[in-house]
Amino acid sequence: PLAEPETPPESAVTDKYAFAFDIDGVLIRGGRPIPEAIEAMKVLNGQNQYGIKIPYIFVTNGGGKTEQERCIQLSKQMEIEVSPGQFICGHTPMREMANKYNTVLVIGGEGEKCRIVAEGYGFKDVVTPGDIIKDNADTTPFRKLTQEEWDNSRTRDFSKTVIEAIFVFADSRDWASDQQIILDLLMSKGGVLGTRSETFDEGPPVFFSHNDVVWSASHDLTRLGMGALRVSLEAMYKAVTGKTLNTTAYGKPQIGTFQFATRLLQQWRKDTHGIDAPPDTVYFVGDTPESDVRGTNEFNKQSEQTWYSILVRTGVYQEGTTPKFVPKATVDNVLEAVLHGIEREH
Ligand code: G3P
Ligand code: MG
Repeated sequence: PLAEPETPPESAVTDKYAFAFDIDGVLIRGGRPIPEAIEAMKVLNGQNQYGIKIPYIFVTNGGGKTEQERCIQLSKQMEIEVSPGQFICGHTPMREMANKYNTVLVIGGEGEKCRIVAEGYGFKDVVTPGDIIKDNADTTPFRKLTQEEWDNSRTRDFSKTVIEAIFVFADSRDWASDQQIILDLLMSKGGVLGTRSETFDEGPPVFFSHNDVVWSASHDLTRLGMGALRVSLEAMYKAVTGKTLNTTAYGKPQIGTFQFATRLLQQWRKDTHGIDAPPDTVYFVGDTPESDVRGTNEFNKQSEQTWYSILVRTGVYQEGTTPKFVPKATVDNVLEAVLHGIEREH
């Protein structure tokens, strides 16, 4: 008779500690995996000298796609299965605003993707810059819609539409026209396009899904990010109206994002590993001192668990500079970060 096929023994899961990973500049650069990242995931999944599995989640400021779509992509890149139950992107917490506003303008991302994300969050009436340009092409003198954009854009009477809030979900693909449209709304009478307020204090609020001024893409040097658009918009608003514009940013380093991450990790450990208690330590691996290290350190001060910041040298932070926010450890790459955490624990 044939011998029973040998099944490898299930590795034990640690309930003592967990990891949380930033994505751009830690695991991915410009759509390509950072080589050590694939190895790091294997180590977490039991290929380490202790034969233990270590729970982990992902907390990125990036976005522009549904969490589902982003996880499918990350699964392929990291050669593991990533579930939306262990994933937060910059705009994920914005879903909690879906019932607060009726008609909203959503900025950023490719094509219609961010409208789809916003509708998936439950936003009832989502307008895009394309809809506004389709209605009045004079809105943006130097931007004409492509045929595809025209076909996807929806027609409506904007003189009868009150836009109650502006959400920047992902990086703008056309700063000039998107900023023109945001400014028009901020200077409008109560969020109605085509009107001008006399006081400039009745426009809709603006929310950004994060505040990274720069980020790590495929270029050797950092590239401008959403935080740069925010700075630019605020400066432009001041130049045009003489007033100060206050906007709100989500994402890291906001404490709310780390609280969200804590809840997600708790749920994830419970659902997939049957662990119904918080870990003692969460190792957060990031490349951007202003977002990742700052957020982790500040959250650590008020959290019951230890949040331990590890900075890598594969992204925004570069060797030879002093990081503005000081991590507990600085290592070359994410594999070293994972090994550092494991070593501290055993
Ligand atoms: O646009 C994305 C970028 O600013 C940061 O992404 O993964 O490094 O938080 P991440
Ligand atoms: Mg990063």
